Amino acid sequence: MNSFRIGVIGLGQRIAHVLAAMEEVGWPLDLAGYVDPAPVGLPILADAGIEPGRPYPDPAALLGDGPFDLVMIGSPNHLHYQHLKAAFAAGYPIFAEKPIVRTEAETLALARDLRQTTTPPLYIGLVMRSMPIVREVIARVDSGELGELVSVDATEHLGPEHGGYLARNWRRRQEWGGSYLLDKVCHDFDIFGRLAGARPAKVASFGGRSIFTPEQDARPKVYSDGAPAYALRDAGWSSANDAFHSDMDVTDHQIAMVEYESGARLSFHANSHVALQERRWYVAGTRGTLLADLVRNKLMVRGALDLKKPERMDFHERTDDNHNGADQAMARDLLATLTEGKAFPVTPYESMEAGLTVMAIDKAMTEGRVVDCAPMWAAYDAARAG
Ligand SMILES: NC(=O)c1ccc[n+]([C@@H]2O[C@H](COP(=O)([O-])OP(=O)(O)OC[C@H]3O[C@@H](n4cnc5c(N)ncnc54)[C@H](O)[C@@H]3O)[C@@H](O)[C@H]2O)c1
Repeated sequence: MNSFRIGVIGLGQRIAHVLAAMEEVGWPLDLAGYVDPAPVGLPILADAGIEPGRPYPDPAALLGDGPFDLVMIGSPNHLHYQHLKAAFAAGYPIFAEKPIVRTEAETLALARDLRQTTTPPLYIGLVMRSMPIVREVIARVDSGELGELVSVDATEHLGPEHGGYLARNWRRRQEWGGSYLLDKVCHDFDIFGRLAGARPAKVASFGGRSIFTPEQDARPKVYSDGAPAYALRDAGWSSANDAFHSDMDVTDHQIAMVEYESGARLSFHANSHVALQERRWYVAGTRGTLLADLVRNKLMVRGALDLKKPERMDFHERTDDNHNGADQAMARDLLATLTEGKAFPVTPYESMEAGLTVMAIDKAMTEGRVVDCAPMWAAYDAARAG
């Protein structure tokens, strides 16, 4: 297989991990270079034995030095749209990290851009789509085994170090990250929409900052074994020094409720400072129930009237980042797409719809009301139709 000439815009931790996973599953990589004012992914590439190529001053310089087999975008969320536009103009296939863009206006503009026949292929890193356990959840729901989807209860709870990192990294500011839920759980809302087979009709949400505040700073910052807390991770580009005294303006915990156009209903609970980590989807259908534990990578399913023990599946692979082998699976999916023409597991449209869903949830929280999503979908469909 010929090597893939790759250019990177935003060589942060994420793109470096994706490149390491690509190398691990056998991509023949030729990393030509990158654009990044402070590339925090360099040590990760060095650990993986990947040469980063040369630095370029800006996207135009990098993209002018083509051809590329793949342009990878891993910049902070507020830059995705402008970096996508530059890569569209260059015309090479693109892998871009989620969330695809940061605002509703950018989503509508992107929907219009994607109508151009000259737009190159675009693959979005909604990595959960590639996880074997998530594929199994989708297959079980699609098979009809659970009957009609009635209601879903889902969570994502992060440990104190992860929450502290979010409170210091660029994600702490709406202007850069969008929101806590947009950056962290657009993955989950992408899958929920896929399971429901429908778009949200109405959403409600409450959330705020009750953890990473100056008032909470009085507690000793040590773990029970004496190790320092909230101190372990380099918080990267435009970071703040202290998780409790930053200029954070996104939530650190949030709950949301969604009613889909199909009638399925969902509640979601996210917290960024828990002692018992969890990412769990409890999916109840008219004829059966499924429980997916995404942290432990285990699935349990049983028919509603079945008195036998539930069927249990253990997907075994566990990694500290809770991605549980998903990065490697996504790297294989992307290679199969580029070399064999196989469909990538998620489309740019599904990525935009997941983003818009979370943006509606955040609007409901900010405005303190139930948001009717119909006008948002009408605007999106109009943009897609040109
Ligand atoms: N799919 C996933 O599971 C997953 C996980 C983590 C992050 N992400 C996404 O990946 C993206 C990057 O996140 P991260 O965790 O790697 O953050 P990061 O802070 O580690 O990396 C961001 C990089 O962008 C660089 N950058 C800043 N301004 C730039 C500019 N003008 N041009 C080019 N580069 C610039 C920064 O210097 C930094 O190296 C985000 O969109 C995030 O949502 C996805």
